[in-house]
Amino acid sequence: MITKTSPIAVVDSGMGGITVLKKLHRIMPNENYIYFGDSANSPYGTKTKEQIREITVALVERMMKRGAKSVVIACNTATSAAAEYLREKYPDYPFVGLEPALKPAALSSKWPRVLVLATPLTLREEKFNKLMARFEGEAEFIKLPAPELVGFVERGEVETQQCTEYLERILEPYADHKVDAVVLGCTHFPFARKPVQQILGEEVLVFEGSMGAAKQCQRLLEARGLLNDSQQEGIISFENSDDSKIEQCIAMFGCGDV
Ligand code: DGL
Repeated sequence: MITKTSPIAVVDSGMGGITVLKKLHRIMPNENYIYFGDSANSPYGTKTKEQIREITVALVERMMKRGAKSVVIACNTATSAAAEYLREKYPDYPFVGLEPALKPAALSSKWPRVLVLATPLTLREEKFNKLMARFEGEAEFIKLPAPELVGFVERGEVETQQCTEYLERILEPYADHKVDAVVLGCTHFPFARKPVQQILGEEVLVFEGSMGAAKQCQRLLEARGLLNDSQQEGIISFENSDDSKIEQCIAMFGCGDV
């Protein structure tokens, strides 16, 4: 049975969803969480929509069976492949998905040039292209797939020379203020926020959806009377389809602000 003390499940292809877990924990520290990183199937962003839908539905249903009171699909790629299907199948269940933060970026100034960094699957999906069409009258969008950045984050190699060189290579055409804003449309990417900002220019505005998703989860639970009213800090249980990655998940949860 689902109660106020039931956990919130947060799922991702690996380390990325930790950026969302951190925000959830910041605004709802007394909740209990299961963080499930699916590192054995990572990366999601270079697979087909059908593969990711199957993987995501199985993972989400596992969390529902374990009594999670909400499942946060803390992955833009998995959300674009499976959220609509899951919402249709379980219309009353409080799912939270992630989508690239195009709206605040588009409205951040007059006709901004907005660079959108995400996985190849997210950028080619209908969900993303519909969202982009809604704001095309407000901004110029440039789509930039960055699949290798997922691997650098997964391996904890964001601060290496190879990662810097990769980012310099793909961001070079937009460096030195050639864009006004950048959307980090993959939950792994806030871990690389610093080098991205350095290359694009310090005035470039950076947008990502983790706090929006955390607040949406809070609203959904509040509306159902399911917020945990305990005064004590909750428990976070870290799980991974690749056991050898659990310690890294814990370390990344504990590392600076993302
Ligand atoms: N973290 C995921 C996202 O937000 C994708 C990473 C992957 O390709 O596995 O899109």
